Amino acid sequence: MLTLAYTTLALLVTITARTIPDNYNQERRALLAEETLTSVGGKQKLNDEETRANEILMKLKTNELNASYFNPQHFNFSKHYFSYKKDIEKSRVYQIIRSMPKGAVLHVHSSLMLHPDILVKLTYEEYLYACYTHDSIKLQFSKATPARPCANKWALVSELRNNSSDPNAFDAHLRDYFTLYRENEDYDYVDINTVWKRFNKVYYAIKSLITYRPVREKYWYETLKQFYNDNVMYIEVRSGLPDLYELDGTKHGKRYLVELYKNGTDKFIEEHPDFIGIKLILTRDRAQSINHVLEAINVTRQLKAEMPDLIAGFDLVGQEDLGRPLSDFIPILSEAKEEINLYLHAGETAWLGTSTDENLVDAILLGSKRIGHGYALTKHPSLMSALIKKDIALEVNVISNVVLSLVHDVRNHPLATYLALGLPVVLSSDDPGAWSAEPLSHDFFVAFMGVASKRADLRMLKQLAINSIVYSALEEDRKSRLFAVFYDRWDRFIKDVISNESYRDLEVS
Ligand SMILES: *[C@@H]1O[C@H](CO)[C@@H](O)[C@H](O)[C@H]1NC(C)=O
Ligand SMILES: *[C@@H]1O[C@H](CO)[C@@H](O)[C@H](O)[C@H]1NC(C)=O
Ligand SMILES: *[C@@H]1O[C@H](CO)[C@@H](O)[C@H](O)[C@H]1NC(C)=O
Ligand SMILES: *[C@@H]1O[C@H](CO)[C@@H](O)[C@H](O)[C@H]1NC(C)=O
Ligand SMILES: *[C@@H]1O[C@H](CO)[C@@H](O)[C@H](O)[C@H]1NC(C)=O
Ligand SMILES: *[C@@H]1O[C@H](CO)[C@@H](O)[C@H](O)[C@H]1NC(C)=O
Ligand SMILES: *[C@@H]1O[C@H](CO)[C@@H](O)[C@H](O)[C@H]1NC(C)=O
Ligand SMILES: [Zn+2]
Repeated sequence: MLTLAYTTLALLVTITARTIPDNYNQERRALLAEETLTSVGGKQKLNDEETRANEILMKLKTNELNASYFNPQHFNFSKHYFSYKKDIEKSRVYQIIRSMPKGAVLHVHSSLMLHPDILVKLTYEEYLYACYTHDSIKLQFSKATPARPCANKWALVSELRNNSSDPNAFDAHLRDYFTLYRENEDYDYVDINTVWKRFNKVYYAIKSLITYRPVREKYWYETLKQFYNDNVMYIEVRSGLPDLYELDGTKHGKRYLVELYKNGTDKFIEEHPDFIGIKLILTRDRAQSINHVLEAINVTRQLKAEMPDLIAGFDLVGQEDLGRPLSDFIPILSEAKEEINLYLHAGETAWLGTSTDENLVDAILLGSKRIGHGYALTKHPSLMSALIKKDIALEVNVISNVVLSLVHDVRNHPLATYLALGLPVVLSSDDPGAWSAEPLSHDFFVAFMGVASKRADLRMLKQLAINSIVYSALEEDRKSRLFAVFYDRWDRFIKDVISNESYRDLEVS
């Protein structure tokens, strides 16, 4: 009896509660508005033209996302990047993102920036020998057969190509050594060590091609061209400065490569005056000895004294879980930071409570100006507060984290939280050449469509581009020039979007 009475009462309450309580909707809106205001770009104010462009962008974004919300089996961003890479071009949202000015790239490694199709073109240079094994290739330019040992045998690439029945197939095969991307493959789970082994093979193949001085010059020019065409106007490049060689065997030291970068970039700027330039962050493999790292710091100090506008600072690179933790280098890094800015990779791991994870603590205490990846940061509330207080930017590379096996469904990438909290975030691409990605547009696209809120709009994209300028190592005068170039291109971009005939079908106001 009693139970029945309660049930009847509950039913009555449900029925009478069909009106929404006073203020509920107001409070609901206020909470959501507060979240929007906190998020990256939430405080950006759009003018009338930007508002119209935003309506177009958001209509396209909602259309593309709605389709997947109701058919999650088609949602590309919960799959491996390689499985939808070739379809990205078809997205209308992508067309807008590609033409959007994106400011600067602040996290990218010098040997892995260029698309493998162009690397293959560079193998048409004369005097190139190859040594193949079943899964690796070593290249060397030489007048005579190289004296270095080869597990198989050295052969001229031009002869191999000429002898092959199908030069296009030959080139496609060659390209596979320069990239992890495979178009027609199932992307089963690979563990982080396996994928890093493959990644390192790609790196060594490319490195063996581009340590030849004439090829490095072309490589650098083509790289700048691709980044510029992707609407990137300034780059901070991490480089270990390998020795280059000439055909006669002459070797060039580290300073020479710095000069080569400078000369190549100056020439590019002459032809493209709105490109602002580059700075270098010199690196050493974190798996090496403390003495080797000290030597690299010494070189950085010397080069910075000679070319202060070109050298931004120092970093340690390589697979973080397998290298030494930052805590091994505290004496030398805390001394170095007095003269050299640090831009440390830290927390590029999914392992909580490990030394890699705790690299975040040391990166913050060592005064790192920005943090490379910081993937593990959301698990550390105190470190997150410290990062906000010190205004340390996070260099986030979503596609890299997918390809190098940290995350599978990008909706679960910590960037979603960083964006929601309004952390100082910059988007970058790490090694776009190694996975055949566009220099930066693919990363912006995946972050915008796959990671950020469905409601995140043009204001977020604009703020991310602005962040890349704000958190760059540029001196004030060049930073102002970069801002001027950016805003000029931004205005043109907005006008292009709202006057684009191809968006007429959307019937926005
Ligand atoms: C997307 O889905 C939402 C919720 O179902 C709906 O309100 C909205 O009109 C849809 N938008 C588009 C562009 O399809
Ligand atoms: C998603 O993938 C499908 C194929 O599975 C493709 O047709 C579609 O264009 C892709 N969409 C995007 C936005 O890449
Ligand atoms: C304008 O539309 C064309 C055709 O769809 C597209 O290729 C281009 O990127 C668009 N431009 C902008 C700024 O969206
Ligand atoms: C190319 O073919 C020629 C003629 O058959 C042969 O002598 C030569 O060894 C081949 N070169 C290579 C690199 O395989
Ligand atoms: C290319 O191959 C053809 C046929 O095997 C041969 O006659 C020709 O000499 C080769 N050319 C070069 C540059 O190796
Ligand atoms: C760079 O340019 C300077 C001035 O033209 C020249 O002296 C120097 O040899 C060049 N260095 C390299 C590595 O190209
Ligand atoms: C680095 O420089 C310091 C001071 O100039 C010197 O004492 C030290 O021997 C150098 N170390 C290496 C490994 O080059
Ligand atoms: Zn990196």
